[in-house]
Amino acid sequence: MVTGAIFADLGNDVIGVDIDRSRVDSLNAGDCPIHEPRLPELLKRNLKEGRLTFATSIPEAVSTSEIIFICVGTPPAEDGGTDLSQVETAATGIAHAVNGYKIIVNKSTVPVGTGDFVRDVIEKNGVAAKDFDVVCNPEFLREGQAVRDTLQPDRIVIGSSSETAAKTVELLYQALGAPCIITDTQSAELIKYASNAFLATKITFINAVANLCEQTQADIREVVKGVGADSRIGPAFLGAGLGYGGSCFPKDVDALLHASRRLGAEMPILEAVRAENDSRVPRFIQRIIGRLGTKNRLPLEGTTIGVLGLSFKPDTDDMREAKSIEICHALRETGARLRAYDPIATTNARRIIGDDGIEYCQNPYEAAKGASGIVIVTEWREFIQLNLNRLKSEMVEPIIFDGRNVYSSEQVTDAGFEYFSIGKIPSKPKP
Ligand SMILES: NC(=O)c1ccc[n+]([C@@H]2O[C@H](COP(=O)([O-])OP(=O)(O)OC[C@H]3O[C@@H](n4cnc5c(N)ncnc54)[C@H](O)[C@@H]3O)[C@@H](O)[C@H]2O)c1
Repeated sequence: MVTGAIFADLGNDVIGVDIDRSRVDSLNAGDCPIHEPRLPELLKRNLKEGRLTFATSIPEAVSTSEIIFICVGTPPAEDGGTDLSQVETAATGIAHAVNGYKIIVNKSTVPVGTGDFVRDVIEKNGVAAKDFDVVCNPEFLREGQAVRDTLQPDRIVIGSSSETAAKTVELLYQALGAPCIITDTQSAELIKYASNAFLATKITFINAVANLCEQTQADIREVVKGVGADSRIGPAFLGAGLGYGGSCFPKDVDALLHASRRLGAEMPILEAVRAENDSRVPRFIQRIIGRLGTKNRLPLEGTTIGVLGLSFKPDTDDMREAKSIEICHALRETGARLRAYDPIATTNARRIIGDDGIEYCQNPYEAAKGASGIVIVTEWREFIQLNLNRLKSEMVEPIIFDGRNVYSSEQVTDAGFEYFSIGKIPSKPKP
């Protein structure tokens, strides 16, 4: 959607095809089915000017297009690999509609070798090799800033065995002025997985250092300032927290691990990343129980906890692999009653987390009502400058468990809170 809207904004005619009719209908009506800053304006403008349309019919879209992007989901398969069934179905549909030379671009995140798989599917469905080329053009945008990332990408990666096809796709991006890396298909496929796995490793590394800080007088935020100032390391992706989640990092790390095993080039480093990431929430829950729990079978029975932030990260309503899911389940299992608030993800969250033992609130202060602790799960901007006095006045016990290091110790202890953050020993409230 984001790439299509931006290609349309650059003057191309774009047809977005999806098998989900309700999604197509709402898009044609100008309603954006996901929360993504700046996307609704782009969508409305290009729909109005007739450069962008949405349809459920592959044949019409394929027959009128020179370049076809496959951007379908590539979820985890049962064997730990990647389920390519959506890619296969899309490629089959495209093959049946080919009416002349086409460039078929795989934008979905796929295991190394998928370009050949797509080529095979298309050929098996009756298209001659001369009538198409396959290109891999992985997507690097981040949800929550997808429009910005698409307009100002760090790099565009284009992999193909056809120089002409690669150059044609490069032309499509030319107006963005971003560096373009043209390479072979398999390298392009691996660039995407290696990038995500590296970022997941960076996050995990600093989380492990944060664990160490919690056993010392060191403060992870101070440590990160010094580490991130090294130009060989850089400050990005060094925010210690509850671990990576979302629809990409967990599945892409698993997929790379699976591929490395399959190809006999194992990557035990990623096993360690995965294990450390999986331990983040249990460790955080233990800190909450350690402070608020009893020795009863359900240590938090009768305790109310406010949960701030449910989406997997700020500026999106995406709940896929959100840490809030694991946190809410774990807290309910220990007997806690929850009061949760998210600026925009509540509807999606309710569908996944359910209503049992949890009340969804209209604002952070309502979520704090009667609570013995507030848990910050997602670092939404609006949590940074909450009225802490008002928050405290709603609570039974003023304790903040900050899973994203949104606050500084001084800020919250000055306001009379006891403060647990990631990578620092707890701070007592100032009298
Ligand atoms: N979401 C991200 O931030 C992000 C970032 C980079 C890369 N990616 C990759 O992009 C791909 C898509 O991710 P997403 O988050 O947009 O997935 P998604 O599941 O939200 O969207 C995929 C869409 O494809 C549609 N679809 C499925 N089969 C189809 C078919 N045969 N024909 C037409 N439409 C079909 C689905 O109905 C759905 O609307 C994945 O490979 C993902 O790893 C996603």
